[in-house]
Amino acid sequence: MKRIRLGVNIDHVATVRNARGESYPSPLRAAILAEKNGADSVTIHLREDRRHINELDLKKIIKKLKVPLNLEIAATKEMLKIASRSKPPFICIVPEKRKEITTEGGLNLKYNKNFLRILIKKLKKNKSRISLFIEPSIKDIKEAKKLDADCVEIHTGKLCNLINKKKVYKNEFKKIQKAVFEGNKLGLEVHAGHGLTFTSAKILTKIKGIQEFNIGHFLIGESIFEGLPLIIKKFKKILKS
Ligand code: PXP
Repeated sequence: MKRIRLGVNIDHVATVRNARGESYPSPLRAAILAEKNGADSVTIHLREDRRHINELDLKKIIKKLKVPLNLEIAATKEMLKIASRSKPPFICIVPEKRKEITTEGGLNLKYNKNFLRILIKKLKKNKSRISLFIEPSIKDIKEAKKLDADCVEIHTGKLCNLINKKKVYKNEFKKIQKAVFEGNKLGLEVHAGHGLTFTSAKILTKIKGIQEFNIGHFLIGESIFEGLPLIIKKFKKILKS
C-alpha cells in the first residue's frame, strides 16, 4: 500500500505567539520538530493580514528546513512577489477573505482564471510545485489541469464537519472520491486538507489516490494535551528546587 505523505501546518503556533506579542512559541522550532518527527513537509499560510505567520517566519523556516516547505498564498500580486523571492519548493494557492476565521472554501477558478494562469506560469519558473486548493468538483479538477497546476488540494472541511457532527457524510465522501479519481486520471497529484482530525483522516484514507494530507488546527491543538503532562512536571521540579 502506498504511504500517504503528511504535511504539518504550523500556523497556529504563530497564532499563540501573536496572542501575546512574544517571541514564543517559535514557529521555526515547531517546523524543525515536525521535520524531526516524520513530517513529510511543513505548511505555513502567509495571510494578507499576517494574523499568524509573518515574512520573518517564512525566511527563517525556509533557511533551516530540510523537508519541503509548502507556502500557502492567496492569488495576489503581493504574494506573487514574496513567493518569487523566497522560492519555496511547494506552493498552494488558496482563496482568502479578510474577515474569515479560516479558509472557507476552494478557489473560484473561473473568476480568477487569467491571473491564476500568469501566477502559475511565473511560480513554476522557480521549480515550485504548484497546488490549487479547490472544492471536490470535477469541473474544478479539469480547470486546474487546464491551468497547468501540478496538484490539487481538495477542501475536506464539509466532510469533516459532517463527521464531527455525526451526520451522514456518504454523499460528500463520494464527491471527494470522484474528484480524486478524476484528478489521478488527468495526471494531477491529489492532496486533501482542512478540518482533519484522527477520525476524519482515518475515514479519508479509504479513498485511494490521495497522496498528501495537510493538517494543522487539530494537530496543534492535540499536541497541547500530549505535551501538557511533561511541562507541568518540569515546572513542579523547578518549584521544588
Ligand atoms: N490546507 C489548506 C489549503 C488550508 O488552507 C488549511 C487551513 O489553513 C489546511 C490545509 C489545514 O486545515 P486545518 O488547520 O483545519 O487542519
